[in-house]
Amino acid sequence: MVLSTVKRLGLALLVTQALARVVPEHATIVDRTTAAATSYDFVIAGGGIAGLTVADRLTEDPSVNVLVVEAGPFDQGEDAVLVPGAYNPAAYLWPDLFTVPQEGLNNGVYFAICGRVVGGGSTVNAMIFIRGDQEDYAGWTALGNPGWTWADLLPYFEKSENFTFPSAQLAAQGNITWNAAVHGSAGPVQATYPDYFFPGSGNWFEAAQHAGIAPDTDPNDGSVRGVFWLPLAEDARTRTRSDARVNHYDRVIATRPNYHLLPETSVSRVLFSSAKRATGVQFVATDGTSSAPTTVNASKEVLVAAGGLHTPQLLQLSGIGPAALLAAFGIPVVSDLPGVGANFQDQPTIPMTYNLGARKSERQLTSPVTNNVSPNWGSLLNNATYDAEQYARYEANKTGPYTLVRTLSTNFAALALRDITPDYLAIIAQAAARNPLAYLPAGTDATVAAGYVAQRAVLLAQLAADAAVGGLHWNTDATNTLYTFKPFSRGTVAINSTSILDSPLIDYRTATDPTDLAIYTALLKKNRQVMAAPSMAALGPVEDAPFGTATVTSDAAIQAAIRSVMSPTNGHECCTAAMLPRALGGVVDSDLQVYGVTGLRVIDVSYWPFPVAGAPSATMYGTGEKIAAVIKAKYGLS
Ligand SMILES: Cc1cc2nc3c(=O)[nH]c(=O)nc-3n(C[C@H](O)[C@H](O)[C@H](O)COP(=O)(O)OP(=O)(O)OC[C@H]3O[C@@H](n4cnc5c(N)ncnc54)[C@H](O)[C@@H]3O)c2cc1C
Ligand SMILES: *[C@@H]1O[C@H](CO)[C@@H](O)[C@H](O)[C@H]1NC(C)=O
Ligand SMILES: *[C@@H]1O[C@H](CO)[C@@H](O)[C@H](O)[C@H]1NC(C)=O
Ligand SMILES: *[C@@H]1O[C@H](CO)[C@@H](O)[C@H](O)[C@H]1NC(C)=O
Ligand SMILES: *[C@@H]1O[C@H](CO)[C@@H](O)[C@H](O)[C@H]1NC(C)=O
Ligand SMILES: *[C@@H]1O[C@H](CO)[C@@H](O)[C@H](O)[C@H]1NC(C)=O
Ligand SMILES: *[C@@H]1O[C@H](CO)[C@@H](O)[C@H](O)[C@H]1NC(C)=O
Repeated sequence: MVLSTVKRLGLALLVTQALARVVPEHATIVDRTTAAATSYDFVIAGGGIAGLTVADRLTEDPSVNVLVVEAGPFDQGEDAVLVPGAYNPAAYLWPDLFTVPQEGLNNGVYFAICGRVVGGGSTVNAMIFIRGDQEDYAGWTALGNPGWTWADLLPYFEKSENFTFPSAQLAAQGNITWNAAVHGSAGPVQATYPDYFFPGSGNWFEAAQHAGIAPDTDPNDGSVRGVFWLPLAEDARTRTRSDARVNHYDRVIATRPNYHLLPETSVSRVLFSSAKRATGVQFVATDGTSSAPTTVNASKEVLVAAGGLHTPQLLQLSGIGPAALLAAFGIPVVSDLPGVGANFQDQPTIPMTYNLGARKSERQLTSPVTNNVSPNWGSLLNNATYDAEQYARYEANKTGPYTLVRTLSTNFAALALRDITPDYLAIIAQAAARNPLAYLPAGTDATVAAGYVAQRAVLLAQLAADAAVGGLHWNTDATNTLYTFKPFSRGTVAINSTSILDSPLIDYRTATDPTDLAIYTALLKKNRQVMAAPSMAALGPVEDAPFGTATVTSDAAIQAAIRSVMSPTNGHECCTAAMLPRALGGVVDSDLQVYGVTGLRVIDVSYWPFPVAGAPSATMYGTGEKIAAVIKAKYGLS
């Protein structure tokens, strides 16, 4: 979640106070020559959440050898990675990924936000740790995927985590609630709530309720709806990030000589036998220094875990994708799957900034026009004395604002469409009346279009039901962020050359379907309602341009303003190798096996048919556990 954070922090890494975590010089970090000379049962392309979760579980069986090939480096234990309040992902994002001009966003070109580091997104993300709504998984199942309901997944969600509940005192002061029955206490991912809240969050909590948003006991119990504290992938003991490198590599590696990791190396092709069985991969140095590709064998399976942007690129380069696209680049077709790179989605965000107390410092405290509650995030960003005090407090006592993710507050409101607007039935009726194919990318394959029609029926049913379609957040400073969960718009990812080291063409196609704009407009009005409730109005918030309650009032004006500020990505790129029947443009079956070949699965967020009500990482950890169990059962592993 949270592009606004990335934007605010800019692209310069703040390596100020480095913590002592050195890269383990362990034998299981292999070089390319060693990897190529070793026999592996499984080769995993991509060391992010899915890749490391599955590698950890497969190597529990000492008879199995696994190689993870990761494009990025190990992080160096910087505060920017490990300390929530010092969060800055810039050093470990893909540096050169840009979109094509976005037709729904005034033809702007945007940076595509995506992690490139051991741990993948979990090392650079905003640590928000929430599962989807049970309706999301019911929807995936209804699209032809048995075994993916909430009841099917809950044991794996519990297995994945060790959730630490707050003290009774903090819970009472901060209005934190939870449902202990749905949480795990022995899993690898350390999850908890921050140990501090800014006082203004109480104003916002009251305002949300004044605007009709009820508290949600626990967003992780299958119902993501209402106002709640954001759970984080944070270790309650150390108050540091629990990323996949920490929880599925460092945690176990000392006892796993069979778990190899090859960093700073990009898988460039999946290799197939003449019988179309995946037999291994080719790889190159990510920095391009060694041009000669090397190959490594996988005697059982190749597992693709390269994330929502790079998995479709890698599959297409390997001959798995739309035949016409592959032909244009002279790539022999191994499996003609038009769905590879189609169905591309993210959870785009709308930032809204306000003139309120946080701006006092910028005016040297000469203007008494606003009344924001202090301290808030602005106090940390603008007052070096306060910032130093709070960092010292964190170092000494592991408490205070540095236990929060930088620039994020503790409260979040997740809203079903009927929570957003009483006119929700009109929005659904207008959407249902539209030709579902009218807004798809030009040239969409007929099977992909059929899959979209099926998905759209599920999405329309969700709009009338309980699952959240959007969210609201105030960071206690000058920024509100409007989150969107369920795009109707669909984009594409397509190769632009035959090299894995070149960027693919990335087209989010954000806000190209009018149903999305109708929902975003309603969400923005709901945000205004919350900000106008007495406890927030008392702080004097005034919308900054391009918004403004006096000037930007019509739906057309609101939509124009949204198009000018909306970010197409929240780093939640997904759904580009969808788990759907092949006749619906699917790429993988419900065991995540790629159609038309054997020995190949896609295990990363690309397999999602559509995004869940919330953020991806908790689901990716849980479904990593699930798919590892499926693979272990197939090969009789312990
Ligand atoms: C800035 C940011 C903020 C986010 N905030 C949140 C949040 O607060 N909460 C949340 O739940 N989610 C958040 N996300 C999203 C979440 O982290 C991802 O959706 C999740 O990590 C996806 O898991 P994955 O296993 O599918 O892929 P990833 O974790 O992305 O892992 C894919 C890995 O594959 C590697 N790779 C790519 N191509 C190749 C190749 N050819 N060869 C070898 N390796 C390759 C990549 O370098 C990467 O490490 C955020 C993401 C970003 C970028
Ligand atoms: C990889 O497979 C090829 C073809 O079967 C074989 O020649 C080669 O020896 C194998 N390499 C290793 C390291 O097992
Ligand atoms: C779970 O977290 C608690 C406290 O935060 C800790 O005492 C315990 O050791 C952790 N368990 C595991 C398995 O990580
Ligand atoms: C907790 O709830 C009470 C009652 O609604 C409210 O007055 C207070 O501001 C809230 N505090 C926080 C931190 O949410
Ligand atoms: C900055 O923080 C210090 C320490 O908390 C505080 O004493 C001071 O009043 C703050 N300054 C301003 C301008 O808010
Ligand atoms: C840490 O907590 C102790 C005990 O409450 C307190 O005396 C000390 O000042 C705190 N340290 C910092 C740096 O805040
Ligand atoms: C796609 O490839 C063409 C030809 O090499 C190049 O000019 C263009 O910049 C590439 N586009 C992107 C977005 O990388």
